[in-house]
Amino acid sequence: MSISIKITSASEAEELSQIQKEAFKPLYEKFHDKGNPFLRGPEDILRRLNKFNRYFTILYDDKVVGGVFYRLYGKRSPSDEIGAGEYYLARIYIHPDYQNKGIARDAILLCEKEFPDARFYYVDFPEDMEKNRRCYQSAGYCDTGERACWSEDAPVLAMFKKTVSDEFEPAGVTLPMIYEVDKNELQECLDVIHQSFGTVAEQFGLTQENCPKHTSFIPLVFLEAQMNWGWHMYALYAGKKMIGYMSLSKESDNTFELHNLAVLPEYRHNGFGKLLLDHAKDIAKALGGNVIKIGMIEESTVLKNWYIANGFVHTGTKKYEHLPFTSGYLEWKGDYLL
Ligand SMILES: CC(C)(COP(=O)(O)OP(=O)(O)OC[C@H]1O[C@@H](n2cnc3c(N)ncnc32)[C@H](O)[C@@H]1OP(=O)(O)O)[C@@H](O)C(=O)NCCC(=O)NCCS
Repeated sequence: MSISIKITSASEAEELSQIQKEAFKPLYEKFHDKGNPFLRGPEDILRRLNKFNRYFTILYDDKVVGGVFYRLYGKRSPSDEIGAGEYYLARIYIHPDYQNKGIARDAILLCEKEFPDARFYYVDFPEDMEKNRRCYQSAGYCDTGERACWSEDAPVLAMFKKTVSDEFEPAGVTLPMIYEVDKNELQECLDVIHQSFGTVAEQFGLTQENCPKHTSFIPLVFLEAQMNWGWHMYALYAGKKMIGYMSLSKESDNTFELHNLAVLPEYRHNGFGKLLLDHAKDIAKALGGNVIKIGMIEESTVLKNWYIANGFVHTGTKKYEHLPFTSGYLEWKGDYLL
């Protein structure tokens, strides 16, 4: 019997909302509280599929048996903000037929592998729900002793918290998400670009002196200008931590150029670069394009072959006086795949 999680897609909202109803029915019958998830439909799930939450579908031997979502930003109670390194386990539900098998606990532990920057998790639940208490305790949560009641008809909530060691665990991430970058994230994007291209600079001996224009040295104003020009900028997130980046600029009606494709060194070789590349193709197609161009260091044979394995074709090289390497060019044509 195996328990797994996957990123919830919009097409699962109906099925999950039925399970949510079944799971929360006993609680609603007890409290008749207006905020009970028993009263909510698929729209309640759809509105959480965004950058501010992480919603996962829970599977038991490949059968959908529940859902779980974490709030990453905003409030975790009327008076508490969710801070850096903090995650709020906002809801977990398992179909009644599958309860009491440890599925929720295992799902929680799987979710936590996706959040490498997490230091504190928070959860709350009606204080007299013994089963919930045991589930969260078995997943490592502890009673803070705090109790809260957020509306007259709602039950008194017990507030639990889990503290995670600050050991860094990049190997656990398997389900990162791609979202468009906001203006306030540009510095974080720059850090990811600098760190990622740092390995290239090291490999080819590039320094501020011999190659000041290399991507590993670009200043923030470059990204700010690109955002102002309307470039399509995307980041890859493991929970709240940015672990990858890429952008697309529109060069003509059907042609885009891919820039600064990057995955942090400690997250490489997990298919995340391909995930970003595939997203670039999807975005180009969605915007009416069918060509993506890339410029790279020609001597980087492994990278060049990787692009070729991902549907790109080598189109030429150029030697510039000011660059200590040869520039290589590749192109992907959506039509090749039709
Ligand atoms: C290119 C890059 C985004 C790929 O990220 P990734 O998450 O490792 O990509 P994937 O897991 O989808 O693919 C891994 C493959 O990338 C290829 N690859 C590309 N560059 C590589 C490099 N310098 N060293 C080793 N493998 C490399 C290999 O074929 C590798 O296959 P493997 O995992 O079987 O060894 C990442 O290596 C990176 O950020 N490099 C530095 C920045 C850069 O060169 N960007 C491209 C600019 S044109």
